[in-house]
Amino acid sequence: MNPEEIDFYNLGFDFIETNQMFISEFKNGEWDEGKIVPFGPFEISPAACILNYGQGIFEGMKALKGKTGEITLFRPDENAKRLNISAKRLLMPCFDEERFINAVKDVVRANKEYIPPYDSGGALYIRPLMIGSGPILGVAPANEYKFIIYTVPVGPYFPEGFKAIDLEISMEYTRAAPGGTGYAKTCCNYAGTMKPAKETKTKGYSQIIYLDASNMEYIDEVGTANFFAIIDDKLVTPKLKGTILPGITRKSVLEIANTKLSVTSEERDISYKELFNDSCSEAFCTGTAAVITPIGSITLNKETRIFNNSEPGELTKKIYDLLIGIQRLEIDDDFGWVEKI
Ligand SMILES: Cc1ncc(COP(=O)(O)O)c(C=O)c1O
Repeated sequence: MNPEEIDFYNLGFDFIETNQMFISEFKNGEWDEGKIVPFGPFEISPAACILNYGQGIFEGMKALKGKTGEITLFRPDENAKRLNISAKRLLMPCFDEERFINAVKDVVRANKEYIPPYDSGGALYIRPLMIGSGPILGVAPANEYKFIIYTVPVGPYFPEGFKAIDLEISMEYTRAAPGGTGYAKTCCNYAGTMKPAKETKTKGYSQIIYLDASNMEYIDEVGTANFFAIIDDKLVTPKLKGTILPGITRKSVLEIANTKLSVTSEERDISYKELFNDSCSEAFCTGTAAVITPIGSITLNKETRIFNNSEPGELTKKIYDLLIGIQRLEIDDDFGWVEKI
């Protein structure tokens, strides 16, 4: 789509075609140089491993435009590392981290006219994607791969301001099991979450809170975001145990809480029962798309716990302001997280 035709002030989270993408091919045991090409389809064998057995992984990141026009990325090295953790889980070839960051920068530069303006609150969403493209019949890794990076302009997560969402705990569906692929950002992890998400939305909830598959008791995560709560004045989040995606926003929130706020944080098992006690005063979820999203209520069967009259909690708001302030270059980035392009 032509950038002049885009209403940057009214964007959602929908696919919009931008001009250029990055593509690199893995053949005979190595990645080629990779290049920026016009965004568009490519041919793939019907026997490709991704099409038959779901051998694919991806990442999600954002480029932002600062007040004075500078373009920034947030912790791209973390996405580069996580891509390779996912690659190892699906027996895919790793992609050099420095080359990953350079390729992301090249794609953003090539699509810079699609970065929403600072005052729109939007971002250029970046989608690195690696797929097993070689044909294969038996269940085994492909011998050829494609690594693609494309971009899509997206609006702010809160077009009408910072608002709390309503979530439902599922006793029916799980997202990941011990020993599975929950900690990796594999394409197949997401296909199974579409039906639960659709059903809960029909009932009026924004997303599902998934519990651990072994006990159906401890919180894993929320659809495509990590979970946090304030319990007994401590900031708590489920500990990483192989079934949860290690979110980069999650990691950043813990670091902000430990260094910028006088709040104790804990990574531990959180029983869903604790969320229905008065000792739990706030809850929110975190992610590249969701940033920090306050949770207004949590429902399990017929029981609903409402937090703070469905208004964002005090600590949630503080963490949101700090994170967004650092990302948007409005607060000094003591952590060295923001990378200018
Ligand atoms: C399942 C899942 N959990 C958590 C997250 C949050 O991760 P991050 O903060 O790195 O975006 C995401 C989004 O990437 C996700 O898909």
